Amino acid sequence: MKKYAVFGNPIKHSMSPLIHTYFAKSLNIELTYEAILGNIGKFQIEAGGFLKKGGLGFNITLPFKQEAFNLAETRSDIAEITGSVNTISLKKGRVHGDNTDGYGFIKDIKNNIGCNLESKKVLLLGAGGAAMGIIPNILYERPFELKICNRTLEKAKKLCNKFSDLGKLDIVEMQDTENYKFDVIINSTSAGMSNSDFSLPVNFFKDNTVCYDLSYGIATNSFKNWADKNNLIFYDGLGMLLEQAAESFYIWESKRPLITDELKNILKAKL
Ligand code: ATR
Repeated sequence: MKKYAVFGNPIKHSMSPLIHTYFAKSLNIELTYEAILGNIGKFQIEAGGFLKKGGLGFNITLPFKQEAFNLAETRSDIAEITGSVNTISLKKGRVHGDNTDGYGFIKDIKNNIGCNLESKKVLLLGAGGAAMGIIPNILYERPFELKICNRTLEKAKKLCNKFSDLGKLDIVEMQDTENYKFDVIINSTSAGMSNSDFSLPVNFFKDNTVCYDLSYGIATNSFKNWADKNNLIFYDGLGMLLEQAAESFYIWESKRPLITDELKNILKAKL
């Protein structure tokens, strides 16, 4: 039996096993996909051990995406550029690292939602690992501009420096008074439900600003509540989760699974 997995810490609430076993069933492929709680500081040994015991590949979620980057012997271009890996596969016997997060985000916002980022003014909230994973793909869409706003300014500046040669990228601060009126606002922070007083200044948005949270479930509460209060259209990251998973599945099995309404509804019921 083919063996796949997802490594993370915490991992209990991961929906990846459900998604990948659904994909496999729909394509008549026999495989197992388990959620593995990785121990901090032991990722290289544990993940390497999974492959040695016959595992064909795995996904990686928080906090191991950079360690997965280091584990990989070869990497895709996007993994090299983002500096993080969410999919490990075996390519000619070598451990290969890829990152399907940015692909999944663009596929969802562009193809599923119908929001093309080309020539748009885009604001990205947060400058952590999740932000890092999608910035290159956003810039490849050639937005008019991409601004990063983060609680810790230094981290936003670092990301700007890292990716500045890929497109027009800059920082913005909450107190900036310029009339930005962003077309799209993406939340990549983990502020989630903890930050009930989440708010953005009026010069940051307009009537038809599209809000997208990379998280899903209760983790979207603060951003979603703010968007609702301001009558802005809001999307959570469930579509992105499914699209990045489908792309990982394709990397492993060379077959593209269909993302059905049935699967979406199963996931929604779990939130
Ligand atoms: P991830 O990999 O999910 O991005 P991370 O690397 O820990 O996780 O980054 C979390 C992001 O959420 C950071 O941008 C963080 O801001 P700081 O860089 O200032 O720490 C942001 N964040 C977390 N809690 C927040 C809060 N309560 N308000 C605003 N930003 C918050």
